[in-house]
Amino acid sequence: MIGVVEGREAGAVPVTLVRKADFETWLRSQTATARRWLKASGFEAKAGQIQTMPAADGAVARVVVGIDSADGPWSTGDLPNRLPAGRYRIENARSTAEANDAALGWALGAYGFSRYKRRARPAAELIWPRRADRARIAALARGIYLARDLINTPANDMGPGELAAAARSLGRRFGARVSVIAGRALLARNYPLIHAVGRASARPPRLIDLMWGRSSAPRLTLVGKGVCFDTGGLDLKPSGAMLLMKKDMGGAALVLGLAQAIMAMKIDVRLRVLVPAVENSVSGDAFRPLDIVKSRKGTTVEIGNTDAEGRLVLADALAEAAREAPDLLIDAATLTGAARVALGPDLPALFSNDDRVAESLLAAGTAERDPLWRLPLWRGYRRMLDSRTADMNNVSEGSFAGAITAALFLDEFVAKNRPWVHIDTMAWNPSARPGRPAGGEAQTLRALFRLIEDRYGRRTR
Ligand code: BES
Ligand code: MN
Ligand code: ZN
Repeated sequence: MIGVVEGREAGAVPVTLVRKADFETWLRSQTATARRWLKASGFEAKAGQIQTMPAADGAVARVVVGIDSADGPWSTGDLPNRLPAGRYRIENARSTAEANDAALGWALGAYGFSRYKRRARPAAELIWPRRADRARIAALARGIYLARDLINTPANDMGPGELAAAARSLGRRFGARVSVIAGRALLARNYPLIHAVGRASARPPRLIDLMWGRSSAPRLTLVGKGVCFDTGGLDLKPSGAMLLMKKDMGGAALVLGLAQAIMAMKIDVRLRVLVPAVENSVSGDAFRPLDIVKSRKGTTVEIGNTDAEGRLVLADALAEAAREAPDLLIDAATLTGAARVALGPDLPALFSNDDRVAESLLAAGTAERDPLWRLPLWRGYRRMLDSRTADMNNVSEGSFAGAITAALFLDEFVAKNRPWVHIDTMAWNPSARPGRPAGGEAQTLRALFRLIEDRYGRRTR
């Protein structure tokens, strides 16, 4: 259920999208009655302005909506919640691009998180515009819905076990193989950092491993930070900073939603998704500041701060990912407050060791209106992670360039000379905007999907 439905256009209320620049010309093609009504209502086709038009019997005969062509899909993002419940159709989507934008914005705006509370009113529904790429738009919307649901579900109902169950159920739907290593087995199987971060919680840590696609296809590996709640550990966060930390599995949610879209569209890859799923908790068994832990890769890591836990669990997962030298390795994580200080909530930070992949992803983000911004993997700052007693510290002493040093930490665990993309994201809309309800968000999912579909294409058989 994505608010965009199959159905007959007859009986659906027509919606006309009008650019302000075209308004006067368009108005001249309308009946005198319509012109009078629009004038009397103060409709000027300003972006976001919605005007319902009555039939003689008082029913809603049609809807006119002001749009700005720069808004792309967001032009229809408010309609599912602002129009009276019922069925609508876009009467003037003249190209595939317009149809896709209208349907995507509608679908993303129709999302509601209703696990614990019935939504105030049902979303208005859109009949698929004839020219839209239905399968692709639906796959993207469903992937984004999945990610938003996973993020919005509070930590009491979305621990490492529930995240693993979500991956298992996703795998079942698409015939993927899902294996999970849990608890002390992580030590036996050499995932010491994942275990160290997660062991304090009553809900044991896990490494989730999903595998899908024909074995000889190019290998695409996605790694997502799955910190189901981040208290900071013994370096406890103050309450304000802890408040939103149910979203600290936003990277995991993003890669699971993206994986769903990839599998639904049968992209021709051998897909692997790795999610280290942990809760960064406080207990007598918690890992401590200045502990030194030997990583999966074999290098030793000094714990300068237990609140820099994301890079620790990612390090072991990335080391495992790197073992099979994938064609492309992508990780996503709600990794640093510093990335948010630098770029704010709307722009996830992109880091990559491959300029061509980075440029393609930035272009895909622009085309999909799912932006991200590149920050440098500035090797000169690597020394900030030097430790006197171990191969590396998990934090730097100062507070300069926190998003960069976090990315440089991860860089130690990926294969050299292999394309790697790291995304440091907010995974959250602090307030609602058209098509982007407040709460969990799958930022960069569409950008990544476009990069991946362009690079690999669909399976032909
Ligand atoms: N999950 C946080 C990062 C975070 C904080 C993301 C706020 C989005 C909003 C991460 O685990 C963390 O706590 N990072 C620390 C790192 C520091 C201890 C070097 C941070 O950013 O303060
Ligand atoms: Mn933390
Ligand atoms: Zn965290």
